Amino acid sequence: MKYEKALQNLHTNGYLAMPVSPKINLVHEINRLRKEKNVVILAHYYQVPEIQDIADFVGDSLALAQAAARTQADMILFAGVHFMAETAKILNPNKKVLLPDLLAGCSLAESAPKDQFEAFKAKHPDHIVVSYVNTSAEIKALTDIVCTSSNAEKIINSIPKNKPIIFAPDKNLGSYLIKKTGRDMLLWDGACEVHEEFSLEKILELKKEYPEAKIIAHPESRDYILDIADYIGSTSGLLNYVQSNKAKSFIIATESGILHKMKQVAPDKILIPAPPINDGSGCACTECPYMKRNSLEKIYLALQYELPEIKIEEDLRQKALVSIQRMLDLS
Ligand code: 13P
Ligand code: SF4
Repeated sequence: MKYEKALQNLHTNGYLAMPVSPKINLVHEINRLRKEKNVVILAHYYQVPEIQDIADFVGDSLALAQAAARTQADMILFAGVHFMAETAKILNPNKKVLLPDLLAGCSLAESAPKDQFEAFKAKHPDHIVVSYVNTSAEIKALTDIVCTSSNAEKIINSIPKNKPIIFAPDKNLGSYLIKKTGRDMLLWDGACEVHEEFSLEKILELKKEYPEAKIIAHPESRDYILDIADYIGSTSGLLNYVQSNKAKSFIIATESGILHKMKQVAPDKILIPAPPINDGSGCACTECPYMKRNSLEKIYLALQYELPEIKIEEDLRQKALVSIQRMLDLS
């Protein structure tokens, strides 16, 4: 397909759907282009191993937002999902921010549509709005303070006790935070389609097989998974726990992409991905289908043509920046 045709279809496909010659050494070409154009490649832990391995920086959503805020590069290529690249753009209005596939969305972010959330907020005008970073720029603009799973507890605790709180959009993280902080928060009814899938029954079966194993979980998981977890934390929290804990085996309830880094930092440990409820043939339920839309081919095309680019209207950007900046200042 010619470039012009690919360009016309960009928004339908989400990416520049052009054939890439199998003769091309993708890693070599990506390295050439990133150097030539002074691009920083930021990748989330849920990216496929070959993307994590070429990234300048791999991290959880807080660390990635912090890396985006301090980068000196001329351009950012975000190997993650849309809300992450959008946050990078909000922090860097004068830099090009590329997302290899615009359809790399997030079920949590989609669970909070702007109009419905605005109406909900209007019913509770005295509430402080805390939103998880997994939201659109429109929701961030309606938010007082953004948080991630790394700093959510600290952010909630920073709010005066007499102030009522709305927490959106993840009801599982919200319920967990209510238990941790003792704050009575109003929760939006959203969830992550990947973290909701872990099977309690199958995890308990694994625990019988590996009685010494520590069960570790991301707080987007359901309460019955969090109730049996030895440790609950963000992706980098889980990674640090596996690296520093004396246990030899771990049952890991989060997206399986994190296992790549875990194997690198703790090569001698037994890492067991928590099974999903429905693991019928061909199901990759513990993989985020949005994170997995990115590929080396798409990164190469994005760097070459500087597309797809994240664009955000300036008025919206400035409004969304306020709640992100408050989070960064508190972190
Ligand atoms: P982290 O902030 O822990 O990286 O989580 C991001 C995410 O999307 C989890 O599903
Ligand atoms: Fe969104 Fe869940 Fe994917 Fe994270 S794992 S990006 S919360 S859908």
